[in-house]
Amino acid sequence: MEIQKQLKSHGAWVGKWTFILAATGSAVGLGNIWGFPYKAGTNGGGAFVLIYLGCILAIGLPIMVSEIVIGRRAGNSPVNAMRRVAVDSNTTPLWRFVGWSGIFAGVLILSFYSVIAGICLNYIFISATSSGALSATDQFSNVISSPLNLLFWHTVFMTLTALIVSAGIKDGIGRMVKILMPLLGMLMIFMVIYAMINGDFNKAMTFLFAPDFSNVTSDTLLQAMGQAFFSLGLGMGSIMAYGAYMPKDQSIVSNSFTVASLDTLVAIVAGIAIFPIIFAFSLEPNSGPGLVFVSMLSAFNQMQYGQFVGPLFFILLSVAALSSSISLLEPGVAYLSEEGILPRKRSAEIIAFVAWVLGIGSALSFNIWSDFHLISDRNFLDSMEFITNQVLLPLGGMFIAIFVGWFMKKSLITDEIGAMNKVLYMLWRFFVKFIAPLSVAYIFYRQFF
Ligand code: TRP
Repeated sequence: MEIQKQLKSHGAWVGKWTFILAATGSAVGLGNIWGFPYKAGTNGGGAFVLIYLGCILAIGLPIMVSEIVIGRRAGNSPVNAMRRVAVDSNTTPLWRFVGWSGIFAGVLILSFYSVIAGICLNYIFISATSSGALSATDQFSNVISSPLNLLFWHTVFMTLTALIVSAGIKDGIGRMVKILMPLLGMLMIFMVIYAMINGDFNKAMTFLFAPDFSNVTSDTLLQAMGQAFFSLGLGMGSIMAYGAYMPKDQSIVSNSFTVASLDTLVAIVAGIAIFPIIFAFSLEPNSGPGLVFVSMLSAFNQMQYGQFVGPLFFILLSVAALSSSISLLEPGVAYLSEEGILPRKRSAEIIAFVAWVLGIGSALSFNIWSDFHLISDRNFLDSMEFITNQVLLPLGGMFIAIFVGWFMKKSLITDEIGAMNKVLYMLWRFFVKFIAPLSVAYIFYRQFF
């Protein structure tokens, strides 16, 4: 039988903190600091934020637990993990296609992620030298109007990602995340305090937390759900791949709670840091993907040690992006190398190259291709975001929930979940079986039919 095939097994990550650091590194990234504020901004604020939080709790958390359960049970890359657990549960190995769709989604996401992360790298230097003579808005226009500039930084970021993944993620990333992520957290809190003193804090709080449901459409629902999947890094096997390295004595449920809480906290804090500045400087909250760059640079231009704090902020943001991008590459690389198709290093190079080529389209969508529309009125980058965040990730997540809720053998699940509060367990089961898949189906139905 197919399942008998010997696969190279993954070593476990030693150390109590390794999994949680890697998983938090995967979750916290551009999605929180670049994506969340700009999407809250274009979707009118409070109502979007509330729906987003609802999606994290009702859909994201149960699916996160499910992904890790599958990953750790199998100890393989997502494609083989899905197949293996399916066969062990006496159902069809076709479930492996959930893993394949994840590899595909990962490449698409990485392609535009790297372009945006490249802009972060570029801003390390821009914020160090910016005198404020050029407005932050004009500065951003300059950055994105040059295809060569965007492509250069895109190339730098993609190369860094491939280098770390080819070295094997357990060595490179742990240490980096342990020191630099808390630093990013502290700097974000500093920015919140700065924004409280110098920005329009009241207006920002009203915007973010007073929901106005009158403008909520099916599109708002879909975007908030997509953002929840993206920010937690769910639906494509990132965290399933990491789960394969998780030691058996750690609790999947409490680790998931920690990761989801930290991720949500960072997104909210980013919103509280950015919007007071947006309103105080009369910038547009709905200005789109440039939001974090324009607002933060405006603040650094005004701030006393801005030319020092600015680069520090963008360095830490780039590191957060790097610890996320490697998890986008990992499912594909883990698959190719565990099957023995290609060595790890080659796999990382090849998949990163494919994503790099695709990323060119996203880089050009800011300038010479800005009028080119791929999916209805979306440019190339928006189309990539749409296909992944709003279609592939929720779909992948829905199948994962259906698999764990309805097909995976119960004894395999309880083996992984371990001793757990009965009520909590029943609650999780209920969400995985019904609430998560039905919510995704409902939101899809409202939007697409
Ligand atoms: N969660 C990361 C962020 O917010 C990006 C990311 C990492 C991701 N792995 C993922 C998104 C898997 C979707 C799926 O920046």
